[in-house]
Amino acid sequence: MSKERTFSIIKPDGVSRNLIGKIIARFESEGLFVVGAKMKQLSRHEAEGFYAVHSTRPFYAELVNSMCSGPVLLMVLEGENAILKNREIMGATNPADALDNTLRKLYALSIGENTVHGSDAPDTAQNEIAWFFAASELANNQ
Ligand code: CMP
Repeated sequence: MSKERTFSIIKPDGVSRNLIGKIIARFESEGLFVVGAKMKQLSRHEAEGFYAVHSTRPFYAELVNSMCSGPVLLMVLEGENAILKNREIMGATNPADALDNTLRKLYALSIGENTVHGSDAPDTAQNEIAWFFAASELANNQ
């Protein structure tokens, strides 16, 4: 087991439905610590850059529009195997495929408005954290 960090977003559909507390409580109950957090209205430039890997996909414009439709909560989560643990807590990208009691099964409206984002691997976690957080914005006391 190793302690690691991952990046998490509560998307506009989660923030607007007042789900922040429930989602963070779930992370905390499963041993993940919030070591960085900020609420932000993403600009198109930020959303396009963050999801650049999907820029040729047919859903890209819809994804960017959705991510800019309201504020998001950006977080860095830390814990043992945080990347995999967060992915298990979130469930499959498409809520129709997500296991019972995962965040996306419980809360997602659709594959586009799927309430939470989480990094899928160590290199993406590092890049995604750096996209939105300076080292000075992250706690070091866990
Ligand atoms: P996320 O984990 O934020 O990573 C990329 C996002 O693209 C994904 O969650 C979905 O919200 C969105 N996405 C992936 N596939 C589709 C699709 N087929 N149609 C619409 N949105 C999608």
